[in-house]
Formats: sequence, C-alpha cells, structure tokens
Amino acid sequence: MPEDSTIRCYDRHAAAYDLYQSTVVPEYETAIEMTAMTLEHLLGKSPKVLDLGCGTGNASAAILKRSLGAKIFLLDGSASMVEVAEKKIEAISPGSVIGSKACDLAAKCWDLDLGPSGYDAVVSTLVLEHLDFDSYKTAIEKCFNILSPGGWLIAVEGYTEEESDMIGWFEDIMSAKKALIEDPDLCDFVSSLRSKEEVHYYTSKSQKAVWWRDAGFNRVHVVWQYLCIALMAGQRPF
Ligand SMILES: C[S@@+](CC[C@H](N)C(=O)[O-])C[C@H]1O[C@@H](n2cnc3c(N)ncnc32)[C@H](O)[C@@H]1O
Repeated sequence: MPEDSTIRCYDRHAAAYDLYQSTVVPEYETAIEMTAMTLEHLLGKSPKVLDLGCGTGNASAAILKRSLGAKIFLLDGSASMVEVAEKKIEAISPGSVIGSKACDLAAKCWDLDLGPSGYDAVVSTLVLEHLDFDSYKTAIEKCFNILSPGGWLIAVEGYTEEESDMIGWFEDIMSAKKALIEDPDLCDFVSSLRSKEEVHYYTSKSQKAVWWRDAGFNRVHVVWQYLCIALMAGQRPF
C-alpha cells in the first residue's frame, strides 16, 4: 500500500475514478480537452509526452485524439491507476505507450528510467497541487531537465488567490454534483476517502509562475481557467 495518503486514496478508488471525476468535478473534461488542445497547438501531431500523474490516462487519451502520432510515458504514484491508464491507452492507440512507472513524485529518483531522454512535453493534470512546496519546486526542476530545449510543461492545477473564494465555490459545486451519481454507496465511499486522505497544497498562480521561472522556464502563462482550476504552460528555452 502506498505511504503517501493522497496516492493511497487514488490507489483505492482507481476503478471508480472516471465515473466520479467526470460526474462530480466541475469542468473536468474541459480541463482535459484544453490540455490536449494546448499541446497540439504548441507541439503538433507527434510529440513525445510524459504524462505526470497520469491517473487513469484521461489526459493521454484526449492527447491521442488530437495528436495522433504522440508517444506517451505514463507515470503515477498509484500502481492501480497506471494499470488502468495503460489498458485504456493501449486500446485507443496500440503502440503509443513507450513506458510506464509507479513512483511518488516526492521521491528523489522519480525521474530515472523514463526511457531515452528528450521529452517534447510534460503534461500534468490535477496532480502537482498534491506536492508540498519543496517537492513541487524539485519536481518542476526535474521536469525542466527531462524536456528537450524548446519543450513545454503544461499543467492543470488548483490555485488559491488572496481575496477570492473560488476554492470554496468550486467545492460547493462539487458537493451539489454528488447527487448525480446513481450509486450512493460508491459516491460516499469515494467522497469520504477523498475528504480523509487527499491532501492539497495551494498557492497563487503568480507564486507558482515564479517557481517555474526559477527552474528555468520562460513564456510562462495561463491558457485557461475555471474558478480555482487553471492551465499553465511554460517553455524550456532553446
Ligand atoms: C486528481 S487525480 C488526476 C489524474 C489525471 N492526471 C487526471 O487528470 O485525471 C490525481 C493523481 O495524482 C496522483 N498523485 C498524487 N500525488 C502524487 C505523488 N506524490 N506522486 C505521484 N502521483 C501522485 C494520484 O495517484 C492520482 O492519480
């Protein structure tokens, strides 16, 4: 069983993840679609991508609908999530998965054994907000080193902003949407697991943009936002 409580939480509901996420999380599918659209716009049809915190592979699945020749490495802290993602992506696009790994992003060595070097993009959707700030900064530096010159980090995260109640507003919408899940036992299981075990470390977009620039990224900018969820992109200079 994973040591990290957030990873453990996701590991325990890998089978129910897609139903819960797409029903309860506001604009989840839009965030995933915006990620794939941004990747296609920046890097075209055949990028080599690390899906960092791949979950059940929904970002990779959306990427492969737009960037048909993408090659993808799947990494997540939860081995169960990686297993679901691998099956999903292999069914959608046989041969597109170039590797996979279950590893905690707070561990020192998560960036080892990622196959031949030189990724065009690191894509990470709703994952980096689970890292404490020291682990976050180290992870961003590792992403910079994993990327080829000119490569892009594209990340969807939750942010908190001073004088804003957008996280509370987002959570209120989530609570209301739980009623849309037809299986109340499953809904209670996932929501109580998440409320007990999932940990978030929120700060502002401007603070995280500073950390991205400190790691060496430039052209750091927000592409899309819905309440507290935003998609940020930054480029490793050529
Ligand atoms: C909300 S899900 C997002 C999954 C996927 N990217 C998506 O958009 O559907 C969060 C994912 O982050 C992973 N995760 C959380 N903390 C992690 C960590 N420290 N190291 C690796 N993975 C982590 C969880 O296992 C889970 O699969």
